[in-house]
Formats: sequence, C-alpha cells, structure tokens
Amino acid sequence: MTLPPLGVAPNGVAPLGVAANGVAPLGAAPIGIALIGGGFMADVHSRAARAAGARVVGVTSSTPERSRAAAERIGAERAFDDVDALLADPNIDVVHVVTPNATHHALAVRALAAGKHVVCEKPLATTVADAVDLEKRAAKAGVVATVPFVYRFHPMVREARARVAAGQVGRLFSVQGAYLQDWLLGAADDNWRVSTAAGGASRAFADIGSHLCDLLEFVTGEQLARLQAVTRTVFAERASTGPVSTEDLAGVLAQTGSGAVVSLLVSQVAPGRKNGLVLEVHGATESLRFVQERPEELWIGRRTGSELHLRNTDELHPDAARLSVLPPGHPLGYHDAFTAFAADTYAAVRGSPPDGLPVFADGVRAACITDAVLASAAAGTWIDL
Ligand SMILES: NC(=O)c1ccc[n+]([C@@H]2O[C@H](COP(=O)([O-])OP(=O)(O)OC[C@H]3O[C@@H](n4cnc5c(N)ncnc54)[C@H](O)[C@@H]3O)[C@@H](O)[C@H]2O)c1
Repeated sequence: MTLPPLGVAPNGVAPLGVAANGVAPLGAAPIGIALIGGGFMADVHSRAARAAGARVVGVTSSTPERSRAAAERIGAERAFDDVDALLADPNIDVVHVVTPNATHHALAVRALAAGKHVVCEKPLATTVADAVDLEKRAAKAGVVATVPFVYRFHPMVREARARVAAGQVGRLFSVQGAYLQDWLLGAADDNWRVSTAAGGASRAFADIGSHLCDLLEFVTGEQLARLQAVTRTVFAERASTGPVSTEDLAGVLAQTGSGAVVSLLVSQVAPGRKNGLVLEVHGATESLRFVQERPEELWIGRRTGSELHLRNTDELHPDAARLSVLPPGHPLGYHDAFTAFAADTYAAVRGSPPDGLPVFADGVRAACITDAVLASAAAGTWIDL
C-alpha cells in the first residue's frame, strides 16, 4: 500500500508516504541515513536504523581511515572522507550526529544548513545557548530534529506515563530517581567525556542525568521547577586527561511545578552499577517503579495489593501496546527501544510524527537542567528553572 503524498519535504526529498511504525510503506523508497561519528553509538544507531527499515548509506569519522574502518564494521554502503562529502549526497535524508558532545552544535548546524533531517545525540549541545540555537535553526529549516532519549521507548515506560496521565497514580507527591554506573570508578579510567573541552562543563549529569530528567518529566507530565544540587569529583586527575573539573557524581533535590518533592542521584563511580537507571513515582493512590535493567517489568505499589506488572500487550494502554512488538516472554531491551526511536523519527520524516518523540526542544530542556545543576552546585543555592 502506498499512502498519498504529503508534499515535498523542505530538503527537496521526494514525499515518502506514511507508515505508523516509520518503516517504509510497500513501494516507497527506504529512508537513507548517514552517520557522523564512527564509535559506540555508530554501531547502535546503524543497527536501529536498519531494523527500522532505513538504508545506511554511509558514515564519516574523524579521519578517512577511521571512516573506512567504521563503514566496514557497521556495514555501511560507503565511507565518506569528510562531512562535506557526506552532506552533498542526495541519497541521505537523515544525518545522525554521534560524535563527542562538543562537536554536536557545529555538525548539526552544517547538517541543517544542507537541508537534512537530523538526529543529534545527547547532550544536544554543551551550552544552553548552543542548544537553543539548534532548536531555532531546525524550526527554520522545517525538518525533523530529534534527540535519542531512548528510554522513553520502553513499553513499560509508556505504560507508566499512561497510568499517570489517566489519573491512576493520583496527585503526585514525590519522585525518586537514580542513574548509576561504575565505568569511571578508577583513576586510570578515562574517556573524552572527562575533558571539559570534548565533553562540556558537566560530565555525569549531562551524560546520564539528562536521560533521567527527561524520563522523569516524560513519565510524570510535570517539569522540575526548582532544584538544589551537590556535585563531587572524586579524582583530581585521571590518566590521560590530567586535572579533572567535570563531576563524577551529582545529588539533586528538586520540586516539580505542583510541589512534588524529587530526589535524584547520578554517578559514574558506583561500584557494581552498570546502567542502573531507576525511576520511582509516588502518587496519592499508586507508586510506579521502572528499572531500566529489568525493562519488561513495572512495579505498581498500593497500600494493599501491590503487583509486579509484566509486559503483556493485551493489558497495556494503547501507546505502550504500540511499542510492545513481541509477545510476552520474548524480552525487549535497549536495542528495541533504540529501534522504536529510529522508527518514530522516520515516521516523522514521512510526515506522521508519533506521540512522545524527543525533539530538539527536549534537548534544550536537558541543557537548561544541566546548567541549573552546575550553577546550584557552584553557588550552594536553589535555582529556579
Ligand atoms: N542516547 C544514548 O543512549 C547514548 C549512549 C551512549 C552515548 N551517547 C552519546 O553519543 C555520542 C557519541 O558517544 P560514543 O559513545 O559513540 O563515543 P565514541 O568515542 O565511541 O565515538 C565517537 C566517534 O566520533 C568520532 N569523531 C570525533 N570527532 C569527530 C568529528 N569532528 N567528525 C567526525 N567524527 C568524529 C570519533 O573518531 C569516534 O569514532 C555522545 O554525545 C554521547 O553522549 C548516547
């Protein structure tokens, strides 16, 4: 079935038709994507893009040699020697920016100027001003511009969000959240993220706290209104970076617009924690607890009759059921969430943006919260958002 054309996209790409899951409708040309950056996220994005029905046209990385190595590893159709060559290719509809944080703004500006739809990794930019600039440029270009806050795409996260929206949780009292990792536990552990020049002024909070806050606001439908933060850098120096000024961990006390009390802990030095993202919401009638490493479950707490709700498509709210693409007992995980994010981005490119798609405005929101965390930690005061 080929659906009626919706008009030519602002980048001059022919209309592509619409499919609810972003996969190319029968007879429609697949969306062509390319990646700028050839590391960990190039692997994840390219697999997700293919699973969502796109063609991985090419990749470019920091040198032509690295571009070729990345193309071979991820099975891209070709390696581009540089960003200009990639952006000049008319077969590319969507550019995925998957490079270190400090390069996002300049690369996304170029991709938008070339008329491409853009997926830009989080943090969208390393300053609020740059994130706002990207949001404005994307709006002016009239293209789809998304940020992979992919934890939104777990069916049980959508279920939690739907329960809050339907009033099943009741008036929101409090939220407890954590995002804990241990991959930077030793002073010998190092990465570009540690350096302010490559990663930005914030490390742990911008890197993973941004996911936690996005999830919190997405599930509760409320925004953080004010916060007070404490940050800590546990090693004054790391192996190759030298003196370290980015934080290893952050504790945040906050309040939402309705007055709900929020406590968050974000750390990259918590032994044994690999990707420990946990969100627990307490309302007048129910609590909800989602644990990213057990994404098939949602704990529903009640004064009596608490239950561990296992994913079963027939029992889910419609938005959660839409993402529940395998029968119960066939576990969905991180990659499935990434695929759903890619599919929804491509559905938007085809003219039909699904509910809950994280866009550049959400990247701006994360940048504002990160900025407030650093400002509060420096001043030792509450900051209004
Ligand atoms: N959404 C998520 O769940 C998630 C998870 C991990 C990382 N990320 C984000 O993805 C981005 C990339 O992280 P990663 O873990 O893949 O890093 P990485 O170090 O594994 O890869 C970065 C790649 O970018 C290349 N590169 C650097 N500068 C470049 C430039 N100017 N032009 C072209 N290529 C360049 C490097 O050679 C390398 O191949 C970061 O912004 C990170 O925050 C998001």
